[in-house]
Order: sequence, then structure tokens, then C-alpha cells
Amino acid sequence: MKFDTVPLSSALAAEVRGPDLSQPLDPTTVAALRAAWLEHKVLVFRDQRLDVEAQARFASYFGPASHTQAPDARSRKHDPDRRVLLITNLREDGRPIGFLPDGELQFHSDSAFLERPLMATVLYAVEVTDRGGETLFANACMACAALDPGLRARLEGRRAFNVYDYTTQVKSGTLDRAGLPQAVHPVIRTHPETGAQAIYVNRLMTEEILDMPPAESAAILETLFAAIERPEFVYEHVWREGDLIIWDNRCTQHARRDFPGDQTRLMRRIGIAGDVPV
Ligand code: SIN
Repeated sequence: MKFDTVPLSSALAAEVRGPDLSQPLDPTTVAALRAAWLEHKVLVFRDQRLDVEAQARFASYFGPASHTQAPDARSRKHDPDRRVLLITNLREDGRPIGFLPDGELQFHSDSAFLERPLMATVLYAVEVTDRGGETLFANACMACAALDPGLRARLEGRRAFNVYDYTTQVKSGTLDRAGLPQAVHPVIRTHPETGAQAIYVNRLMTEEILDMPPAESAAILETLFAAIERPEFVYEHVWREGDLIIWDNRCTQHARRDFPGDQTRLMRRIGIAGDVPV
């Protein structure tokens, strides 16, 4: 099957026009899509009508689904096969039925608090709000390449502590870490397929760079977070129902803008299992 790839920004992301993902794709198309994905890091497919099976089939072209993408089981109630995580503000009896229900999210790479974070994420928009809720994608390789060479050298071999508190969705220096999912990963990671280096600390989950005075760690982290957030490295996606996006968590970070809490936002997420970052 032929498809067109239309870049969506000068930093990253491309729209793929042509494939109907409700139907199986042939191996040649899958290989071409995979190559386009490694190049653009984020692929957007619009106007798709996908049930869970079709979304899972698409995800399987990139790798096996992860069953550890979320540390709790709340949203599993609606998904007995445990592949799909609902990202939604829908509630039953006042309690969210899904994950990441409300508001803004700071830049992050999915599940960086796990020893083996997600390689990729496949997010499908079932219902979106009439404004807000945009997802911003940052090219973490471009941000890394733009760092001051002296700082790059200072970060060689450094590792950072990542933790996430799902109750507040906000990283805090006073976090009680006990019992929270947490992992130590390189500050700069190397993409196993392209060899590109990417900043792998994020504002939402990274607490500190290890073996460094706290003030220096905090100052360097702020520099790295600011690098990720430079507008020239970011593509902002305005969601429409029927959009499907696959992003590479090994070389991108993403954030979400606030959205009206009195409107439904319902996304289906399938995570693709990843390796230990190096
Ligand atoms: C996520 O961080 O996985 C969710 C992004 C979104 O809701 O747009």
C-alpha cells in the first residue's frame, strides 16, 4: 500500500495519509511505516475508525504490548484483556475510570519510573473536548544536540532518579518516595535503533541527578527541562476524534495542555514494551 508522509513541524512528527488502520497492513507497508516512524519520531493518522482489536493490531507491528504501563489497576476494570489503558476524565461514582484524568501534564517520557519504560505509545482519540487537551511533542535528540558541549561532557555517564506520584501528577522535592514506582536511568540515553542521543530526564518524573550536590543537580535539571521545552523543538497536536498517534518514548517527550473538566476526553492508550535505557 502506498502512503504519503507529510511533516508537521521542522522538529518532529509527520502525518501519514493513505492507510486505513481498521484493515491489516502488508509487511512492506509495515516496514515503510516503521522507517518513517524512526525518522519522524511521531506519526499521526487521522480519521481512523478503530476498535480495540484494530488498535492493538497496529501497535503489534511495532512491538509487543506492555502489561506494566500503569502502576495501578483502576482503568483495567474496563479492559479485561489488559492491553488498553483509558486516559480519560470520565468518572463513575465520582472516581476516575481511567488514568491521567484531569488537566495539564508536564513534559515526560512514558513510564520513565519503570526499569523498562515503554518503547512507544499508541494513543487513539475516541472523544475530545472542543478546546484544550492538546499534546505537545518535543524532539529530545534535537534538544540534546543543542546543549552546551561542556554540559554534555559533564553529563557523560550520569544517572538520574525518576519517580512519579499519580495522586498529584506533580513532581515535588518533598515526595515520600517509599512505595512509589521509581527507577534510575541515564541522563542522556542512546536510541538502540538510530544511535541518536536524547535527553532522558523529564520535568514530571525526574527528582535528581545522582552523585552530584543537590543545588548543582537542580540547576542542571532545569537547564535540561528548558532545552526540551524550546518551541523550535516542539510540535503541538490539536486532537480530532479518530486521530491515532504513535510516538517513540526513547527520543521524544510529551506534555498536555489543560482542558475543560466539564467535557469528556476519552483516549485509548496501548503501550509497547521497551528495554532498559542505556
Ligand atoms: C500521556 O501522557 O500518555 C497522555 C497524553 C494525553 O493525554 O494527551
